[in-house]
Amino acid sequence: MAETKKIAVVAGDGIGPEVVAEAIKVMHKVEELFEYRFEFEEGLFGGIAIDEKGTPLPQDTLEMCKRADAVLLGAVGGPKWDNNPKELRPETGLLGIRKALGLFSNIRPAVVFDCLKDASTIKPEVLEGTDLIVVRELTGGIYFGEKFRREGENGQEAVDTCVYSVAEVERIAKQAFEIARTRSKRLASVDKANVLETSRLWRETVIRISADYPDVELEHVLVDNCAMQLLRRPASFDVIVTENMFGDILSDEAAMLTGSIGMLSSASLGEGAFGLYEPVHGSAPDIAGKGISNPIATILSVALMFRLTFGYHDAADLIERAVKNVLDAGHRTGDIAVDKSKAIGTTAMGDLIVAAMVK
Ligand code: IPM
Ligand code: MG
Repeated sequence: MAETKKIAVVAGDGIGPEVVAEAIKVMHKVEELFEYRFEFEEGLFGGIAIDEKGTPLPQDTLEMCKRADAVLLGAVGGPKWDNNPKELRPETGLLGIRKALGLFSNIRPAVVFDCLKDASTIKPEVLEGTDLIVVRELTGGIYFGEKFRREGENGQEAVDTCVYSVAEVERIAKQAFEIARTRSKRLASVDKANVLETSRLWRETVIRISADYPDVELEHVLVDNCAMQLLRRPASFDVIVTENMFGDILSDEAAMLTGSIGMLSSASLGEGAFGLYEPVHGSAPDIAGKGISNPIATILSVALMFRLTFGYHDAADLIERAVKNVLDAGHRTGDIAVDKSKAIGTTAMGDLIVAAMVK
């Protein structure tokens, strides 16, 4: 019997709890089919934590995550908290949990599922073969630099500072090179070195680290050009590594290439095996509680957790195969259905995937 893995579950707001429930069903099925065992502990996080505990990241939730082997997160946020002051915003909880758990690397795969090519707004021939990963630095840069307001000569000014240390760039670069090594051995480092000093440091550091990875082909792409090339030649990218804010923007763009943000999983990692896994999509308050959200991104996030944190590749393969089989059989939730009248609901999709998990 494998050692029981502790999973901290922070379902959050909006559709978070409904998609997480389906992912947990999938994990129970894995327990039935394999010797793997999981122990779940739930905590409040995001808007619901603001309502119930007065803070988006309560101390006991953070402690629970620190005790766990991995964290499964649903989604946070909603219009209810949008006008709150900074400390009482769900997004502040998200940034806080990343920082407190040392999750400096965010991995967002963007894969075009063949059977869903029609769901994209981009021409299928441009998308052909797209399978890339954005590796986003997650705990530095302008997100975490000093922020303040001041009186300037022409009235009030706002300041956001962007800071990167060599050590911060080194660790994310190494991780991206390692990932590139397991794939097609191509890495695109994205920066704005023609303008920004942090980007010049970024580029210098990535070049220095590249000496340890002679087998990986490195290209430097300016961020504006990268935004354009992602639409023009998406299939030519394999691994993209970039700083926090560029990664935020480019990973949304990459996700949209696939036409199915409801399908994409993500991992946030630190130095060890511990990781936080969440769907790329948000809390979708407009459809929350209707039972029509797509649970696949969260289910695939579990597969990613099995691969990257636990090394349970057999169970991850089984989940990914089950998802593919269910989609190949034509089942769709509303977000990916061409004929919306045939769309199925969240639990129906979860049940079909569980039923397709056959060893
Ligand atoms: C993301 C989100 C967050 C970010 C927001 C909600 C703070 O857009 O995870 O990409 O900007 O990092
Ligand atoms: Mg984002």
